[in-house]
Amino acid sequence: AQTPPEAAFAIPGSGSLREHARAHGLLAGAAVNIQLLASDQIYARVLAEQYNILVAENAMKWSALRPAADKYAFEQGDALVSFAESHQIKVRGHNFVWHEALPDWFSATVTKDNAKQFLVDHIMAVGGHYKGKIHSWDVVNEAVLPKDGRPDGLRKSPWMELLGPDYIDTAFRTARQADPHALLTYNEYGVEYDNDEDAERRAVTLQLLRRMKSANVPIDAVGIQSHIKAGSPFTIGRGLQDYMASLRQMGLKILVTELDVNEDDLPYDDVAQRDHAIAETYRNYLSIVLAEPSVTAVLTWGVSDSHTWLNSGPTHHKKQPDRPQRALLFDDAYQPKEAFFAIRDSFDNRKSGRL
Ligand code: XIL
Repeated sequence: AQTPPEAAFAIPGSGSLREHARAHGLLAGAAVNIQLLASDQIYARVLAEQYNILVAENAMKWSALRPAADKYAFEQGDALVSFAESHQIKVRGHNFVWHEALPDWFSATVTKDNAKQFLVDHIMAVGGHYKGKIHSWDVVNEAVLPKDGRPDGLRKSPWMELLGPDYIDTAFRTARQADPHALLTYNEYGVEYDNDEDAERRAVTLQLLRRMKSANVPIDAVGIQSHIKAGSPFTIGRGLQDYMASLRQMGLKILVTELDVNEDDLPYDDVAQRDHAIAETYRNYLSIVLAEPSVTAVLTWGVSDSHTWLNSGPTHHKKQPDRPQRALLFDDAYQPKEAFFAIRDSFDNRKSGRL
């Protein structure tokens, strides 16, 4: 359905997320689809009005930046950076190292002998290209996976197979060199819930970070992805609180990098009921997370329900194929949903003056 621009119910200025966040020492952000930014004026307007930090959902991953082993394609990333600059919005870089989104040529071209050079060259080229324009880089994304069975709990990713666990330190040291002013971030999922699986992932992540710290590897922040669920049988509380306190004691800042609410498990179809449960899930989560003084930013993984990754891609995110997920803050017509107000309230409820 076509929505005329004047129907967009953005709440600009003093009512915006960015203003409510700023008043409490926070950045409010979202992941951006670059094609939409170019084609949908309402989307662009909502981004400009609501957020003071943005991140590319896919445009700064290897698969987007590296059409060939000897080529870099910066156009999409540049489009985000110039949009952000023209609206006084900060930009996160996502990401230098991940086991997914590697280009098709990667596996046939990158070998144990040249992998370190590929890694260093990529980070120097991309980090250098965006030098001085990036608030924080996700240097390494999702390196922990205890169920892969390694004694150190790290994932058997392509980078691990090629370089061993040193790839992590190499990436961070190179990133510092490429852009000395970006906050260097380790980004991870599955650390939110009070259950055994998440507890193990928290323990392994802390062990990794402690080892890095003691080896003087440059790292400034940790991202908690925060892909959470409405209707989960598990609670969020003590485990996450202790994890965040440990990060703070290590001198690390904390960023909520990819917040959204998967609502597939809700046992009812009624839209208003679901939207309420989603909003309460955001509210409860942020009441815990924002009580931690080291948290400096909250970014959602997308803007409106029509474009959430939970409705596309891998089916494990979608148990109910006939029921589109309503994961985000704005509905298909960019009307703010109950979740928008729950998040804004959560910013307001944060005790001020602690940053
Ligand atoms: C997802 C994007 O949202 C999708 O469009 C893409 O097809 C796959 O990647 N954790 C991350 C993100 O760190 O980069 C992922 O983004 C979602 C999970």
